[in-house]
Amino acid sequence: MRYVYLEAGAAAQNLHLQAVAEGLGCVWVGGFHDEATADILELRSPLTPLILICVGYPLSGTE
Ligand SMILES: Cc1cc2nc3c(=O)[nH]c(=O)nc-3n(C[C@H](O)[C@H](O)[C@H](O)COP(=O)(O)O)c2cc1C
Repeated sequence: MRYVYLEAGAAAQNLHLQAVAEGLGCVWVGGFHDEATADILELRSPLTPLILICVGYPLSGTE
């Protein structure tokens, strides 16, 4: 299980770096309702959400 969290963190960081490289804004969200999120994403066991990543266009002047 240790590797699941290590690899999820590395993947999330890479996604964050790529988003920034493309001029996008990115925030991680670790506090969410696990079951509701799995339901809306139609994730079935053993898949489970570990982190949400919001990607969008940053407000100008905040980069
Ligand atoms: C692993 C991780 C989990 C996070 N989870 C949350 C979260 O659940 N809720 C939240 O508001 N910010 C969370 N953050 C912080 C946001 O990603 C973001 O950095 C913060 O909201 C600051 O955004 P701002 O620069 O637009 O003010 C988390 C950051 C990390 C690294």
